[in-house]
Amino acid sequence: MVVKNICCLGAGYVGGPTCSVIALKCPEIKVTVVDKSKERIAQWNSDKLPIYEPGLDEVVKACRGKNLFFSHDCNAAILEADLIFISVNTPTKTFGNGKGRAPDLKFVEGAARMIADVAQSNKIVVEKSTVPVNAAESIMKILKANQRPGVSYQILSNPEFLAEGTAINDLLNADRVLIGGEESPAGEAAIEELCQIYEHWIPRKRILTTNTWSSELSKLAANAMLAQRISSINSLSAVCEATGADIAEVARAVGLDSRIGPKFLQASIGGSCFQKDILNLVYICECLNLPQQAAYWQSVIDMNEHQKHRFTAKVIESLLNTVSGKKICILGFAFKKNTGDTRESAAIYVAKTLLDEGASISIYDPKVENSQIHEDLKYVGITPEHIESHLSIFKDAYSATKDCHAIILCTEWDEFVTLDYEAIYDQMMKPAYIFDGRKILDHNNLLRIGFHVETIGSRLGQPFKNRRYSTSPQAL
Ligand SMILES: NC(=O)c1ccc[n+]([C@@H]2O[C@H](COP(=O)([O-])OP(=O)(O)OC[C@H]3O[C@@H](n4cnc5c(N)ncnc54)[C@H](O)[C@@H]3O)[C@@H](O)[C@H]2O)c1
Repeated sequence: MVVKNICCLGAGYVGGPTCSVIALKCPEIKVTVVDKSKERIAQWNSDKLPIYEPGLDEVVKACRGKNLFFSHDCNAAILEADLIFISVNTPTKTFGNGKGRAPDLKFVEGAARMIADVAQSNKIVVEKSTVPVNAAESIMKILKANQRPGVSYQILSNPEFLAEGTAINDLLNADRVLIGGEESPAGEAAIEELCQIYEHWIPRKRILTTNTWSSELSKLAANAMLAQRISSINSLSAVCEATGADIAEVARAVGLDSRIGPKFLQASIGGSCFQKDILNLVYICECLNLPQQAAYWQSVIDMNEHQKHRFTAKVIESLLNTVSGKKICILGFAFKKNTGDTRESAAIYVAKTLLDEGASISIYDPKVENSQIHEDLKYVGITPEHIESHLSIFKDAYSATKDCHAIILCTEWDEFVTLDYEAIYDQMMKPAYIFDGRKILDHNNLLRIGFHVETIGSRLGQPFKNRRYSTSPQAL
């Protein structure tokens, strides 16, 4: 079979950009991205795409209507496809067995059932969603149990490693593409078909083929190890604040060791989609009766969670232990810059804690929709009445910071670096506080202007914390 028609189930942060790049690089292949959400598809077909990603507009404009289509008609797209990506969401379960840890695979199962119901010819089904090890087997069970005569399936695992905010660049210049499949002639043939698609722009030596389970586990392992680095540097940032060391200097010194390398050594209040995947790994370890391994990876999550609590506690403590009745501005609500995605964003936790403590919050983010901020805060238990009375959302940083007691920088948007902080200081309540949760601002300049500045991993002008030394840790 030579793949001429691709269908992607799920037009989200992964399905949309990935298939747009495939369409760009494979003009002879028809790519149809479908979603059960009519609204999302309408946005993909409009001038304002449903997700913000640098470079995405250009790629979509170059291909849409030629060999790239966004459609709500899932059945038609499945019918004509030779190869189907499953790129649906796999959120952490919020109920039942594995609640709070296991991924909810209902959307993956729903996608597999849709394929089984509709398919009338052989299909290569590619798992792009991040799933637990052995998910491919479950998909195959559903497909086989509902198979029409004469239709056969091959399931491949092809996890996506793109990062939001740099998705297009990550897709165009992927470090590696990973394809796992069945160890059989039919499985190898299917792997080869998918390799040939990626070979349109990725050199063969960067396309890795493995068995299905290794591919599924590698995705979880990669995210777990990245998160572990962040947890490690975040843990050291607390030691820096207590001792007078500076985490930026420590990270530089450590990162110059070629065995360690400089990437992913940035201490911050964090926020990323790692948590769900590591929870998934913890759950797998528990199910495999590997409690020590589960506890190890759980501690990585705990450390990153702790960083958010530590930072927010520092804000409250600095503001004389009460934020009740104070106006606090949150700059940035997305989980990182260059995306409008707020899933697992640290800003949600910061805003909720401050609202619970009686503060009034003003928020500015260049890309997050107002409705999303409202939804996120309602989801964590803030009532609509409390949101109405204590939350304001602004269209620029200057209006958002006016009359505030404090600014909390939660997302590292470039535009926050170049704001006129003299002007901002002049219109704030005094003393004016600024908490840089991303370590992107010029702290010396802010101190010079008159701000009280706090950040992560370094002390800016405060006295040393009392240190107690002892030979036995219990005595401390
Ligand atoms: N977002 C990332 O940065 C990233 C990176 C790598 C991997 N992943 C993984 O990729 C997967 C997708 O993530 P996302 O961020 O694109 O999710 P998303 O929520 O943005 O998009 C998923 C889409 O799938 C649609 N959908 C669900 N069931 C469907 C069905 N049966 N048919 C058609 N559409 C259906 C939903 O309506 C939704 O629009 C997840 O498993 C995620 O863990 C995400």
